[in-house]
Amino acid sequence: MQKVATVRLQPGMIVARNVFSIEGVLLLGTGTILNNAYIERLQQFDLTSVYIKNPFTDQMADSDIIDTIPEVVREETRVQAVQVVHTAFQNLSATRQLDSQQFKETAGFLIDEVIKNRGAMIHLTDIRSRDGYTFGHSVNVCVLSTLTGVQLGYNILQLRELALGALLHDTGKMLIPKEILIKPGPLTAEERKVMEQHPDYGFDILRRQSEIPLISSHVALQHHEKFDGGGYTRSLGGSDIHEYARIVAIADVYDAITSDRPYKEGSLPHEAYEIMMSLANTHFDPVILKTFLSQIAIYPLDSIVRLSSGEIALVTRVIPGLQTRPILKVIVDADGRRQKDGPEIDLTKHLTTFIDKIFTPAEILDLDASLA
Ligand SMILES: [Fe+2]
Repeated sequence: MQKVATVRLQPGMIVARNVFSIEGVLLLGTGTILNNAYIERLQQFDLTSVYIKNPFTDQMADSDIIDTIPEVVREETRVQAVQVVHTAFQNLSATRQLDSQQFKETAGFLIDEVIKNRGAMIHLTDIRSRDGYTFGHSVNVCVLSTLTGVQLGYNILQLRELALGALLHDTGKMLIPKEILIKPGPLTAEERKVMEQHPDYGFDILRRQSEIPLISSHVALQHHEKFDGGGYTRSLGGSDIHEYARIVAIADVYDAITSDRPYKEGSLPHEAYEIMMSLANTHFDPVILKTFLSQIAIYPLDSIVRLSSGEIALVTRVIPGLQTRPILKVIVDADGRRQKDGPEIDLTKHLTTFIDKIFTPAEILDLDASLA
C-alpha cells in the first residue's frame, strides 16, 4: 500500500486501509474502489492523503506476499484512543476541566498493546484530517514513546508515567487560539511567541491534577527543550531534561515530520531518518535517538526501491536491526521489463548491491503507467 495525496487520487484506485473521521466514523473501507464522489468526500473531511493499494503488489503472481503490514497498535485501538483524546481535549477547551481518568485509561490500553506487539516495527504513518491533527499526533507520540520505553527496559510504572506524559504533552495547545493552532503555513514571530507558551500552559493545568504524576506533567513542560540547551521554555540541556521528556521530544518531531499537513506532504521514513540523525546531539539525546530509530522501518514493507544493479524491487520483509538491508522481490528487471514473478533478493546476503533510490507514491503510479 502507498500513501497517496488526496489531490493525486484518481477514480479506479483501491483503498488499502480504512479511513476514519476523528469521531471514529468509517469514511471509506478497505477495498473501496474510488470514484469522484468518494474523492470529494475525502476533500470535504480535509484528509490530506489515503493509503492506496500498490499496483505492483496486486499484479504479482503471489500477491498475498504482503498480506497485512504488522502494526504496533491495532487500528481499532488507535481510532478509539483518538476519539477519547479528542473528546477529553474538547472538554478541556470548553470547561478548563481535565478528565484525568480518561487519559489514564487510554494510556493504559495503548501500553498493553505496545507490550503485546513488542518487536514490531513502525512501517506506516496514520492519516489525519486538519482538525484532527493534534489528537492523532498525541496518540502517535504516546505509541512511539512507549515503544522506546519498552526498548529501554522500563518497568510498568515507568511506562505509565511516560505514556501519560506523552499523551498529554500538548495539553497546553488547547489554550492556544485555534487560528494559530491550525494555521496552514508558517507562523509569524508574534504567533510563534504565543504558541511557544503551550508547554507552560500544559504544565500549569496538569500539575493541579492529583491523579497525574508530577513527572508526567514535567514531560509537557519540557518536551520542547533541546539536548544542547537551545530549546524552550527553560533552555535546559542534557540530563537536566527529564529522560521521559527527551524521549517525547524525539517522538514528537518524528511524528511531525512524517505526517502529511494541508500545506506540506510528510517526509518518507528514510528522509525522516536522515533528518533525525542530523539533529543528534543538538536537538536530541543521541543514545535515546539510536534506540528510537532502531524501531523505524527505513524502507517500509511494500515500498518500491531501485537497486545499484538497475533492477526495481518491492520490499517484502524487514529484519529489525538490519533495516538498511531488506528482503526484496524484483518487479522490473535491469532492462526495464515488468516482472510478475521476479527473483527474490536478500540484501543481507547481496552485500555489493545497494538501494540507490526509493520511489515516492507519485513516482510509483507514474512507473506503473509507463510500463502499461
Ligand atoms: Fe508541543
